[in-house]
Amino acid sequence: MNLPLNYHYKNGELYMKKFKIEELVKTYGTPLLIFDEERFIDHLLELETAFRSTRFKTGIVYASKALSLPYIYDILEYYKYYIDIVSFGEMLTAKASDFNFKHVFFHGNNKSSKELMKAIELGVAYFVIDNYEEWDRLKTIAKTRKEEIKVLIRINPRVEAETHEFIKTATPDSKFGIDIEDNHLIQRIRGERDLNIQGFHIHIGSQIFRKDSFFKAANILLDYYKKLKEQDIILPVINLGGGFGVAYTEKDEAFSLADFLKDYVLFLEHEIKNKDLAIKEIYIEPGRSLINDYMNTVYEIGTKKRVPGKNYLFIDGGMGDNIRPALYGAEYTAITDPKRPNDKMDFTIGGKFCESSDILIDRISLPDPETGDRLMVLGTGAYTYAMASNYNRFLKPMIISVHDDIHTMVERQSIEDLLKGENHWKIR
Ligand code: LLP
Repeated sequence: MNLPLNYHYKNGELYMKKFKIEELVKTYGTPLLIFDEERFIDHLLELETAFRSTRFKTGIVYASKALSLPYIYDILEYYKYYIDIVSFGEMLTAKASDFNFKHVFFHGNNKSSKELMKAIELGVAYFVIDNYEEWDRLKTIAKTRKEEIKVLIRINPRVEAETHEFIKTATPDSKFGIDIEDNHLIQRIRGERDLNIQGFHIHIGSQIFRKDSFFKAANILLDYYKKLKEQDIILPVINLGGGFGVAYTEKDEAFSLADFLKDYVLFLEHEIKNKDLAIKEIYIEPGRSLINDYMNTVYEIGTKKRVPGKNYLFIDGGMGDNIRPALYGAEYTAITDPKRPNDKMDFTIGGKFCESSDILIDRISLPDPETGDRLMVLGTGAYTYAMASNYNRFLKPMIISVHDDIHTMVERQSIEDLLKGENHWKIR
């Protein structure tokens, strides 16, 4: 795997731009996530240009769940991106960034009345309804409010994408959305008076490389708009979800989202014309593909241990800061600092957690490092810090952004942070 752009070795030592990784680590400690803000922003701008049409308005919605942080929301707000949220936590994090709620989609399969009320108060642009019960809940609230409540309905288009079982979302038995074959749906839309139904949302899963899955799902959805149009139900908005794959290792094919989006727009324009639809706005909702490549995690190598058939390198992090290998069998690659001239050997990268599944990389070929060297795991922007835990009471890592200078995005969690709100027992 090539070094990420903006990283280079000089005299055997690893640099990110003008900053020596070893110096950053001395200052900030490990595990340390390093964010490449410049490339992230360049990518945002590139995608915005790629996903444009003269026939309909387009919008890119960052799926916050990949990494929801004030720093990220500040950037997205500045560049006028949209975001989705799924919880109070994401909602209030966006509010802390003064995010424009006219650019916010509210998702989730079990939104509480409290969350719905707060979202209305904040002026969320679109509520994405997942099921009839939630629809009723929102409707009840809508009757007591004067604001217009714009809604998209999440439907399950039944497109089984090729990805890990846990991250498929459009199997017939998925917990998400209303089945596209549900006979009540059209009736309910027709009878709706309290909510302003604008269209549909689909999301077929995550880490999908097969472009035809996206085309297929979009086409199924457009056919559905056509079917509705024939019944005089004309809806102007579509949200096609996210799920675009990113390459974690050399085994994964490269997926240029910008190139894909250009084709996607042409395809959508063609199909909309063909089916004679009155679509005015189309959104996509990428999470992983917006952020993943622009963050890497630096660890310190501690113990080296040889067991029959394996050479372990134990690092000072693991499943607490990256649960993905244990949870999805996700694969990563890594590089070492300093670059040692030794012959390469096969290693297994294990973490510090008390679980046999706490293996970050099952097999990687690296020049034999020494205890105290650094290991940088590549492409850890999405669903890593976002899913971090304090298992075994390890502290969550720190995130810095390295540009012309260095900014702390997230402080390293302290033991005081960890103990906050955890009370002591007293003898009674
Ligand atoms: N829209 C909706 C409604 C979603 O549920 C998701 C992801 C996305 C968009 C963004 O999908 P993306 O572009 O990031 O693939 N923790 C898992 C991924 C879970 C994805 C959940 N939903 C992982 O680490 O692979």
